[in-house]
Amino acid sequence: MRRPLVVANWKMNGSLASNSERLQSFLARWKGVHQAEVAVCPPAVYLPQAAELLAQSNVGIGAQDVSAADEGAYTGEVSGGMLADIGCQYALVGHSERREYHGETDALVAKKFVAAQRHNLTPVLCVGETLAQREADETLVVVGEQLKAVVDLAGRNAVASAVVAYEPVWAIGTGLTATPEQAQEVHAYIREQLGSIGAGVRILYGGSVKPANAEELFSQNDIDGALVGGASLNSDDFYSICQAAE
Ligand code: 13P
Repeated sequence: MRRPLVVANWKMNGSLASNSERLQSFLARWKGVHQAEVAVCPPAVYLPQAAELLAQSNVGIGAQDVSAADEGAYTGEVSGGMLADIGCQYALVGHSERREYHGETDALVAKKFVAAQRHNLTPVLCVGETLAQREADETLVVVGEQLKAVVDLAGRNAVASAVVAYEPVWAIGTGLTATPEQAQEVHAYIREQLGSIGAGVRILYGGSVKPANAEELFSQNDIDGALVGGASLNSDDFYSICQAAE
């Protein structure tokens, strides 16, 4: 039995004031015991604020990125040890925006995955194809290669304790969502690639998840939750999505 997980990726949005309002308005509703697990990934500078506001709650905290290195002369980087130190439990690795705008290769993403686990963070490994790749019928090949880079470096057993997020690049921030069937096909493929450990790994869908489409996506056999961008900035919408995962 895989516990549903909904993760908010705020990307580079927020301020002390708006973060506080957003988190408090969500917490006011997300009380008590829930079947679904929820975590929030604010920008790195706001992680301590989130850690404080979420300390007594049932909402976890994640970083949007993690360095492949542990410490030293890496200007601007934040290490897994530092993230764990301030109370993070999760770290996104290989988000398509990092791959696209910051040149992160499959090999670097794999190193980040291993670095996160070295510091007891649960990596949320993001994979997904571009529109051109989907149109060229390369979706499964691309996703398979992204996954394989991590399995080759970390070992398949390491992925057993991680989370995978399938985020088709063409569906991110565009309002275009993969149909539940399109998403399910890729999720099932990812699970199959993970072999014997696959059945226990949570595989999230990301890409224009909204209250209106969440339930249908979550009804698919291999969709165990969501990684939510834009809609996570609105606490009403994010709450509705979390409820749909229950
Ligand atoms: P949107 O929900 O805004 O499409 O973003 C998805 C995403 O990239 C989450 O990591």
